[in-house]
Amino acid sequence: SRKYTLAVLPGDGIGPEVMAEALKVLDAVAARSGIEFTYNHQLVGGAAIDAVGKALPAETVAACEASDAILFGSVGGPKWEKLPPNEQPERGALLPLRKHFGLFANLRPGICYPALTSSSPIRPDLVEGGFDVLCVRELTGGMYFGQPKSRTTLPDGDIEVIDTMVYKKSEIVRIAHVAFKAAQLRRKHVTSVDKANVLTNSVLWRETMVEVAKEYPDVTLAHLYVDNAAMQLIKAPRSFDVLVTENLFGDILSDEMAMIAGSLGMLASASLGKPKGDGLYFGLFEPSGGTAPDIAGMGIANPIAQILSSALLLRFALGLEKEAASIESAVKKVIDDGLRTGDIFSGAPGTRKVNTKEIGEAVIAAL
Ligand code: NAD
Ligand code: IPM
Ligand code: MN
Repeated sequence: SRKYTLAVLPGDGIGPEVMAEALKVLDAVAARSGIEFTYNHQLVGGAAIDAVGKALPAETVAACEASDAILFGSVGGPKWEKLPPNEQPERGALLPLRKHFGLFANLRPGICYPALTSSSPIRPDLVEGGFDVLCVRELTGGMYFGQPKSRTTLPDGDIEVIDTMVYKKSEIVRIAHVAFKAAQLRRKHVTSVDKANVLTNSVLWRETMVEVAKEYPDVTLAHLYVDNAAMQLIKAPRSFDVLVTENLFGDILSDEMAMIAGSLGMLASASLGKPKGDGLYFGLFEPSGGTAPDIAGMGIANPIAQILSSALLLRFALGLEKEAASIESAVKKVIDDGLRTGDIFSGAPGTRKVNTKEIGEAVIAAL
């Protein structure tokens, strides 16, 4: 039988609640397919700060290194916002994990299921017929990591802060290839998003996209400035296929994409490094949304982003395409059957408001 070890890092807020459902779904998949998953549960984020005093304990990193993939919940929250920035869950754990494992490619598939048209705040006729965008977000460069980064009190008492946006051409080339290769398997259209009318970074980004595009003659390339892209996503959501962009723009636009598709609670993500050679990737798989402090502990969060992230894990890290697809179609069936957590409940006829656990159980029943 096939055996895999997964590092499981639930984190904070709704993280543990949605993780519990994803693990139940993985267990059900395993039971049906003779696959064996060993979960190595580890502390991360605020939970790790509370338990052992730091957001990313060495033991957690070691467990990730010894695993076939990382299943991540989410980290952060009001409780840890007063700590020095570099010790907080986000900058102290999540960003270092991405950097440590070289996870430069963040794939976020935004899909509006036909049955969820009425959950999208966008006019139904604009999303009907399929909103289906893959956001390819560069994840280890740009302003998130660029040096210098500082906060200084000046002699006159004023305060100066610096964040630096840095990209190497090689970093743009490698994410471009990810986007074009993904487009070849989809509708063969790439929209590159930048701010080339203002940023030196973006001028190189655009030049590089044009250059790499020559290796993919079957794929069309369009460029949008990020402000216009934010607008076009709302105005003509179906005009996008693959959207490729730098770290910060991708963070912002992917939340927008999630909402067009119905809810942030639906948007899964895969953070991947270089392919390992067997066509598979080491990766960290996590919902695109956060710890949702406004609903944490209530048992009502949408677990679908976490469940779909575990499907991405099966596909990209383990090569279990059939099992990944079975999770995805089970989720679709649950949506088609009308079950909705609060974030996607619109009161449409034939739908019913349920909690986190009920979605998990329904997905298992639909497998
Ligand atoms: P958030 O994504 O946690 O929440 C934004 C809104 O979306 C909230 O109204 C929330 O209830 C809703 N939402 C998100 N996920 C949901 C789900 N699964 N089901 C139902 N509703 C859901 O963003 P925020 O409030 O800006 O951030 C809260 C904390 O989470 C911050 O500390 C932030 O840094 C952190 N965060 C972590 C990650 C991560 O670990 N990957 C991602 C984003 C934000
Ligand atoms: C995300 C999150 C993170 C990011 C934060 C929590 C550091 O918003 O994964 O989208 O900005 O990358
Ligand atoms: Mn984000």
